[in-house]
Amino acid sequence: MERVDFRKTGKMISPVGVGTYYDPSWIAMAKLTGIRKDRERRTEAIRTAIESGINFIDTAEMYETEPMVRDAIENTKREDLFIATKVLPSHYSYDKLINSCEKSLKKLGTDYIDLYQLHMQSSNEKIKDALRAMEYLADQGKIRFIGISNFDLEHTKMAKEWLKKYDLASTQMNFNVAHRNIESDIVPYCKENNIAILAYFPLAHGKLTSASDNGKKIIEEISKNHGPKTLPQIVLNWFISKYDFVYPIPRASNPDHVRENAGAMGWRMNKDEIEMLEDAVKEIKATTWFGDHTT
Ligand SMILES: NC(=O)c1ccc[n+]([C@@H]2O[C@H](COP(=O)([O-])OP(=O)(O)OC[C@H]3O[C@@H](n4cnc5c(N)ncnc54)[C@H](OP(=O)(O)O)[C@@H]3O)[C@@H](O)[C@H]2O)c1
Repeated sequence: MERVDFRKTGKMISPVGVGTYYDPSWIAMAKLTGIRKDRERRTEAIRTAIESGINFIDTAEMYETEPMVRDAIENTKREDLFIATKVLPSHYSYDKLINSCEKSLKKLGTDYIDLYQLHMQSSNEKIKDALRAMEYLADQGKIRFIGISNFDLEHTKMAKEWLKKYDLASTQMNFNVAHRNIESDIVPYCKENNIAILAYFPLAHGKLTSASDNGKKIIEEISKNHGPKTLPQIVLNWFISKYDFVYPIPRASNPDHVRENAGAMGWRMNKDEIEMLEDAVKEIKATTWFGDHTT
């Protein structure tokens, strides 16, 4: 069970997490009718993540999956877990954000959230208000770390500056071996400022899970050096081999996939292997079916 020190804070997390966003129609149905399609299987997938050594779970008030996270974690010691959730921009005012946090705590069945993230960018005034509320929640011990998501570099810098008492702990961005645009700005800034990056769409929404002939050669090569590996494992391992502050959060809905993805931990590729993989995927156009849309 691999653990790494989250931003050198002493909080030990698995370098690969698990995400719980499904799709807009799933969310709409859950919101409108309370029916969470395949709830048991998806909850089982989160539980499988924990059993497979993943202690880092990403959810959001928007996803309607916080109650499933609660069910999945009920038999695990709270201090052994790292729970990240997010608040929507429509709740970026002091009172509304505190209210959202209380609701998330209740849905998650916990006294505190490890990482509370502003889900998307908004107006400067709203972000400032939201960060003020975040600091109040951190003072109260209701949240441990403050993060953002989908902020451009300029707003990432501003968010860091606007926090008075606490550090900006993390950002969450669309990032994978075939979609690396943040490597030119956000990644170096985060490295320099000890800000963790949670990589969403780490498998390019599933596009990086099946291998072309070129991909098969890479799998063979890497498996020769590290024991049998699959493409999802290699693509997820890319983050943790290349960076010690970037954590992929592939989603859980199929327990078999989750078990497989846990096999991305516990080993590292060398520089040549990383470059070989990057070269091989250069041709793949990994735009997702809804582009850079944020969820
Ligand atoms: N902050 C944001 O705005 C934002 C935006 C998007 C996502 N997120 C977070 O990031 C997480 C990941 O994003 P995502 O779920 O859209 O994309 P993803 O993890 O890149 O891809 C998920 C897709 O890959 C499939 N998959 C996963 N493991 C696999 C395996 N081992 N073999 C074959 N297929 C596999 C999944 O199928 P199954 O579901 O059948 O396993 C699903 O279709 C979300 O769950 C959410 O927590 C955040």
